[in-house]
Amino acid sequence: MQRDIQKLKAYFADAPADISLDDVDLERIPSHVSLIMDGTGRWAQARGLDRSRGHVAGVDSLREAVTTSVRLGIDVLSAYAFSTENWKRPQREVNLLMHLFATTLVKELPLFHQENVRLRFLGDLDALPKETRDVFQRGLDETAGYDGMTFALAVNYGSRAEIARAARLIAADVASGALAPEDVDVDAISGRLYTAGLPDPDLLIRTSGELRLSNYLLWQLAYTEMYVTDTLWPDFDRWEYLRGVRAFQGRGRRYGGVVSS
Ligand code: IPE
Ligand code: IPE
Ligand code: MG
Repeated sequence: MQRDIQKLKAYFADAPADISLDDVDLERIPSHVSLIMDGTGRWAQARGLDRSRGHVAGVDSLREAVTTSVRLGIDVLSAYAFSTENWKRPQREVNLLMHLFATTLVKELPLFHQENVRLRFLGDLDALPKETRDVFQRGLDETAGYDGMTFALAVNYGSRAEIARAARLIAADVASGALAPEDVDVDAISGRLYTAGLPDPDLLIRTSGELRLSNYLLWQLAYTEMYVTDTLWPDFDRWEYLRGVRAFQGRGRRYGGVVSS
């Protein structure tokens, strides 16, 4: 964890009445924060705009969430951008999202360079349009050497497909003799998920009030603390993020044991 206290204080100046940096314990910042960025369509519809305008507005919130995470010294930020089920949406909306992912990444790469952020993707990228895949690969290549925060974007991600893929990889290793059936344990599975090598999320934030996981990180969220806010994703800002961290710090994580930490 790296954190610049001066930058952190300046970033969280001008606090609203109900929350400030003083409300969180900087010694207990979650290591991995994960976001389900939901409610962008409703945000636009509430303004009489096309849903796509909400997706575009959501980019600003994600940029702010990345910066907030870096300032707080979060090790890993992950975010759900497109699910395996989102292909069911109208073709026009799907196309727009795929194009938005590509153009946004190109535009935001300087931020990753500036903040030493390493990029990673969760999901099956093979199914994405070439434009999007190429830009994602460029992002991976350009940030591979960075050792600050890891930013993992879930695109064409579905937890069930991810677990089925891990099972296939294990089956192949068992069939080839590389892995013994009795060695198929929790680590063997974790190591074959898209999140291999990342810590499980400590805090999951879902916007727009929906109380469900929508096929997101079902395995990895086993003991994650959840914070659901009614705020729609385009309205999510550093202060709402801080409210989530404050809620997280108020929880007693027991992992099935009896001692409250
Ligand atoms: C989440 O917002 C973003 C994506 C799934 C791409 P939605 O598009 O689901 O917005 P709502 O939930 O319909 O408001
Ligand atoms: C979850 O949101 C997926 C993303 C945020 C990318 P959805 O809007 O697709 O989820 P449901 O359909 O409300 O469960
Ligand atoms: Mg939604």
